[in-house]
Amino acid sequence: MRISVIGAGYVGLTTAGCLAELGHDVFCAEADVQKLARLCAGELPFFEPNLDDLVQRNRAAGRLQFGSTEDAIDRGRAIFICVGTPPMENGEADLSAIESVARTIARRAQGYRLIVEKSTVPVQTGRQLRRHLALHSSSTLTYDVVSNPEFLREGTAVEDFFHPDRILVGVEDSRAAEAMHEIYRPVLERTVACPVHHSKDCMKQAKFVVTDTNSAELIKHASNSFLAMKISFINMVADLCEAAGADIGKVAEAVGLDPRIGSSFLQPGIGFGGFCFPKDLQAFVRIAEKFGCDFSLLKEVERINKNRVEKFVEKIKNELWVLRGKRICVWGLAFKPKTDDIRFAPALSVLRQLLAEGAQVQAYDPQAMAKAQLEIPDVTYCKDMYEAAVGAEAIVLLTEWDEFQGADWDLLSRLVQRPLLLDGRNTLSAEQVSACGFQYVGIGGISAMPKTHPQVADLAAEVHV
Ligand code: UDX
Repeated sequence: MRISVIGAGYVGLTTAGCLAELGHDVFCAEADVQKLARLCAGELPFFEPNLDDLVQRNRAAGRLQFGSTEDAIDRGRAIFICVGTPPMENGEADLSAIESVARTIARRAQGYRLIVEKSTVPVQTGRQLRRHLALHSSSTLTYDVVSNPEFLREGTAVEDFFHPDRILVGVEDSRAAEAMHEIYRPVLERTVACPVHHSKDCMKQAKFVVTDTNSAELIKHASNSFLAMKISFINMVADLCEAAGADIGKVAEAVGLDPRIGSSFLQPGIGFGGFCFPKDLQAFVRIAEKFGCDFSLLKEVERINKNRVEKFVEKIKNELWVLRGKRICVWGLAFKPKTDDIRFAPALSVLRQLLAEGAQVQAYDPQAMAKAQLEIPDVTYCKDMYEAAVGAEAIVLLTEWDEFQGADWDLLSRLVQRPLLLDGRNTLSAEQVSACGFQYVGIGGISAMPKTHPQVADLAAEVHV
């Protein structure tokens, strides 16, 4: 099918690349001229595992092109709207980009269009879109409006596209549902090989869920809010474990064994971030208020999450006392591993507080440093995790990249000023780290004193600092 995708952000570009991989003829529009130029030159504007190859391959095969919104509207029989819906001051989603696309579609398009709303939007946006199109379109335009919320996670977005739990479509008539089924048929019938695993066998049977548009829109907000709630819940249990002398690792594991609860999203830490959970949570609270429902449960989820950063900085201060003038090594800046996305990253909030307290921060992140540097220049950005640790009074882990699992703790113990690790994601082994002379301070009562006390030596020359 000829498909257009409007907006080449994380969702739009992944959707465009993956739809092309399914064999569709895809045209992806981007309004930011600099970003568009980069895309046309074969460059990706952000890091997402496996996406670069996929985009290049499909461009070379002629199945994926980039250009203007106007061209996208003229060419696509299906138009996926993937523009941003950033939060406004009051927490509501700003829908102006969606309205503007709808206006352009109404003005230009002729014949039939399947208009797919993929951006996360408040309930009844589909209804508004329909009304808007009816008011502003020419008599020659016919259309269906479909809600097709996105559940891709950054860092595993390509994988998620080919292995969805469900493909959700909110429609008002069966013609639109059939068209959406046709678009996703290769995934639903597992006739396409997953480009990450290069196999069809690994693909699970995805559910094709058809609802009305209001329900589909609501499912997306409810899903993200529920996951955010799980994280805040386990973070509070972690605090209780710490205060009462229990071990959050063991508690979360055993709680998660109950299939009604499930083990995922029970990882305690410095809180959730990114461009989805914080804004979707706020938007959902506002939506509920608008419809007269008091969803203060979610306000509490948000409040708990905001406090995580504060609490973690307190933990650092408990160990180091005064931060002014102290060298602190920060590992991880992105809001989660496998992405360079720093939007609403709790790591950056911790970093800002450390700087405000007068600490000298040496930071390392495998992907997010270029973006972080633009936002926070007063940090020494290092070429690797070892350079960041030289002379540090503490290593503070804020994003759980796999790379940190393989750290050489013997080497680190000789690089740092003081062998102290504060693990903001409870991801490293207290036992392994303490065996190499480090004091380990995690979240939720997980800590260990050093088992050895090696001499601190300056290995700066050895690691070419
Ligand atoms: C989320 C949803 O998972 C996805 O379905 C939706 O389409 C977009 O929003 P994403 O924001 O990419 O995806 O990241 P996710 O993996 O869900 O993590 C969100 C945040 O929660 C991260 O900051 C992560 O570090 C944090 N988190 C996650 C925890 O603190 N603990 C956990 O147990 C899980």
